[in-house]
Amino acid sequence: MNIAVFASGRGSNFAAIIRAVKKGKIKANLALLVSDNPKAKAIAKAKRAGIKIALVKRENFNDKKGYEDKIIEHLKENNIELIVLAGYMRLVSAEFVAQYKDKIINIHPALLPSFKGAHAIKDAFDYGVKVTGVTVHFVDEKMDHGAIILQKAVMVEEGDSEDSLERKIHKIEHQLYPKAIQLVAEGKLKLQGRKVKILP
Ligand code: GAR
Repeated sequence: MNIAVFASGRGSNFAAIIRAVKKGKIKANLALLVSDNPKAKAIAKAKRAGIKIALVKRENFNDKKGYEDKIIEHLKENNIELIVLAGYMRLVSAEFVAQYKDKIINIHPALLPSFKGAHAIKDAFDYGVKVTGVTVHFVDEKMDHGAIILQKAVMVEEGDSEDSLERKIHKIEHQLYPKAIQLVAEGKLKLQGRKVKILP
């Protein structure tokens, strides 16, 4: 299975995916990094790992459709079968989702449906929750909404700061995302409406 990772920033999840592929924990081909941000640290990580990079900047296109059409061109060129959003800080359009139906997954640093959006760790911490976590889900046309593949809870303990909570969440993300990707690669997920059945 040919995978493309989309990342806009640091790329720590991307790095965890690279490690998992190298160790054989994900049995798939990491074919492409797509980024919208020339300053993304993920780009240097892709270079070091010898992974092809498609840098597509939104400002080079008049509208979102033109921008996404260019990305789709790269995806087709590389025969991409699974899109892994890893800190890709843009909403994908309904048209894009339709072209890659049930073939896009995302990681979110909270237990969805709680704390959707771009600041989930801060939002959960400020709210004062005692439990938050990580969600990996299929992407549909609504933000942070698609069917849930895996979730794992993270406790907010006395003495935790937003920073320490963020570190704990990232550590779980780096374990959970490779696991979810391998489940997709093995064909072990069956979608039944909003429910994702994990086959034995
Ligand atoms: C991750 O924590 C990911 O869950 C989050 O962005 C971070 C990217 O970190 N995504 C979202 O908040 C999406 N709504 P990374 O670039 O180090 O992988």
